[in-house]
Amino acid sequence: MQLLNADDYRAAARRHLPKGLFEYIDRGTEAELAIADIRRSLDNIRFRPSVLTGHAGSNMTTSLFDRTYCSPLIIAPTALAGLVSHDGETKLARVASKLGIPFCVSTQSVTSIDDIRKGAPEAELWLQLYVWRNRDLTWGLLDRAQKAGVSTLVITADTPLSPKRDYNQRNGFSVPFVPSLRGVWDVATRPKWLCSVMLRYLMTSGMPTYAHYLAEFKTAITRAAIAEDVKIESAISWADIAEIQKRWSGRIIIKGVLSVDDAIRARDMGIDGIVVSSHGGRNLDVALAPADVLPEIVDAVGAEMLVMADSGIRRGSDALKYLALGCRAVMVGRLPLYGLAAGGEQGALDILTMLIDEMHSNLVFAGAKDIDALRTAGIA
Ligand code: FNR
Repeated sequence: MQLLNADDYRAAARRHLPKGLFEYIDRGTEAELAIADIRRSLDNIRFRPSVLTGHAGSNMTTSLFDRTYCSPLIIAPTALAGLVSHDGETKLARVASKLGIPFCVSTQSVTSIDDIRKGAPEAELWLQLYVWRNRDLTWGLLDRAQKAGVSTLVITADTPLSPKRDYNQRNGFSVPFVPSLRGVWDVATRPKWLCSVMLRYLMTSGMPTYAHYLAEFKTAITRAAIAEDVKIESAISWADIAEIQKRWSGRIIIKGVLSVDDAIRARDMGIDGIVVSSHGGRNLDVALAPADVLPEIVDAVGAEMLVMADSGIRRGSDALKYLALGCRAVMVGRLPLYGLAAGGEQGALDILTMLIDEMHSNLVFAGAKDIDALRTAGIA
């Protein structure tokens, strides 16, 4: 079957992945209200097109900090991309490199930052940071990231806990994998995934798990003790951000901001950027939708700091809506994962190319010669 839109890729991902893993990627939390609200907020926006502009095409090149990118797009950090396809994080890094956009590596990646760098030497890597309970381990990760040439640290601020996902409790999906009849049956029903992903890991590096800490601590400490150390710090605060500012010489972005007050606080601390995000509807199920708060946040801090946004981008027009509301770039999380599941590296490249093509054609239809023009004239 031809894969012509995000729904086609999503359906292909559903066919290929074990149910527990597919639902982990695809679904939200609790009653999944946030996912519906993100959709509603984007669907309510319309553009007022200009006609007869004489533009043959539109320009999507974007400057972020001191660099120019082909499109205002960043591959979002997503935990466990390496379970969706073998070496999935490295594949995403290579895709980003081909598209001329950054890839933000998740703290909860299956592949370590060092190995991703080896597999994608040209990629612009950002690192998403969850502050671990064990701060020494956290600072160790920052040092390794700096050595791996990571330019930008994205600190996720909206995940103080693991969210409640009862569907995953029912279908036996957990990390680390705890064998259950349900979970084993789920995996056994997807023999292609089992051979191409799981067995490949088992025959090479062993049972896949979060790799960033194992890369450093393959020593006397037991895995259980390590796991305690790398639980996400629930009590993360602005004081931690100040500490990280002392230790990290690159740029710092805070991800998961939904209030003007938090945006102002970040700006006043000298943070380089924020991502206005409700984590794709995966954390606080009653969180505001990013599109509903983005304009007021851009008004408050947009002139002085880089404002980005994410959540719910499934079509090029969704991405343009966030940009028209004033942010300078957008992140996409699930789309590249659907692409990876459907067709590995090529699948991820294809789905993002499709997204960029859709962004371009919508920009042309709106009569905007570039994103700035859309911002000033576009929203109806
Ligand atoms: C995520 N997201 C995420 N964010 C983060 O800061 N650290 C992480 O480890 C993860 N992990 C993760 C796993 C999976 C499977 C998904 C789908 C998402 C959130 C991600 O960065 C981004 O905010 C959302 O995915 C954006 O919404 P869309 O594009 O998926 O709708």
